[in-house]
Amino acid sequence: RFFSDQAHSQSPRRSSFGIAFDIDGVLLRGETPVGGSPQALKRLYDESGNLRIPYVFLTNGGGVPESERAEELSKLLNVPISTSQVIQGHSPFKQFANKFENDLVIAVGKGEPVAVMSEYGFKNVLSIDEYASYFEHIDPLGKFKNWSKQQVGYWKNRDRKVDPCSERVQAVFIVSDPIDWSRDIQVLCDILSTGGLPGREMSSQPPVYFASDDLSYQGLFPTERLGMGAFRIALESIYNRMHPNPLDYTSYGKPNPSVFKNAENVLMQVAPSSTTVESNGLHPFKTLYMIGDNPHVDINGARQAGQPWFSILTRTGVFKGKENHPLYPADLVVDTVEEAVGYILSKET
Ligand code: G3P
Ligand code: MG
Repeated sequence: RFFSDQAHSQSPRRSSFGIAFDIDGVLLRGETPVGGSPQALKRLYDESGNLRIPYVFLTNGGGVPESERAEELSKLLNVPISTSQVIQGHSPFKQFANKFENDLVIAVGKGEPVAVMSEYGFKNVLSIDEYASYFEHIDPLGKFKNWSKQQVGYWKNRDRKVDPCSERVQAVFIVSDPIDWSRDIQVLCDILSTGGLPGREMSSQPPVYFASDDLSYQGLFPTERLGMGAFRIALESIYNRMHPNPLDYTSYGKPNPSVFKNAENVLMQVAPSSTTVESNGLHPFKTLYMIGDNPHVDINGARQAGQPWFSILTRTGVFKGKENHPLYPADLVVDTVEEAVGYILSKET
């Protein structure tokens, strides 16, 4: 409904549209490509392998720096992907790098949360694994968790000017899906209830930021897996039962309209140099396509973002229905991302 062929009749090289791809459940399940994703992405490049259609990855996942994710995705999907095309749930954390530059902040989650935060410019960041290792007896269950013992020696040998046990934690960032929920909930309750000094008296809560709030997502297992939103509910429920003031937190990621606005800006930057993006006075792009698998997150987000977003729901992930989703209907429902890209290119070119 937002299409216009006017620009194309004037110049075949002009692109008035861009595409945002969700990753989990649309392009990949685990590390396995789904829905013909390599073939679909290949169509966005010319015969020499140059990008001809501006597109980005708009995922609520993460855990590694954007540069590393771009390399991983290039290998898995068999197309050249640049760092600037990767927008992860935690990408907005970069805006806090100045505010907390030298403050002690804690990074939580799978993968390399410290590498992510260091690349954003945080200079005094510890993983929750390392942080917990400085406090004896903080996790009474730790001795039963063989997997977490191996790195303790390395962390304790690290040179630190200030002992983390007496340095106040100024903020907590949930970068990616937490691994050890029981330990993380315990230590986060300690940090958040004491104003950043575990084992001390109750004090006002430091800020806590979540990269996303997905209740669940589609991995390789046939049914959905618990996501960061599920962890947030667990932490919040326990914290609120123990403390007079409810947990104060901020979540990023889709469906926040700011994420879609940022994607629009990034799409303008990744637009191929041969492409002129036409401005209609309101939106530089006439149409931006969001291809997602999660109605509550991807489709809800695109609907809230409004024009020029057009939502396409695939059946390779969280959504498995025959018809459209009743609560968050997409502008179009297709089986696979390959079908979605076929539809877009036949409409737009
Ligand atoms: O942990 C990843 C998941 O929460 C969502 O990823 O790519 O479907 O937004 P994606
Ligand atoms: Mg998804």
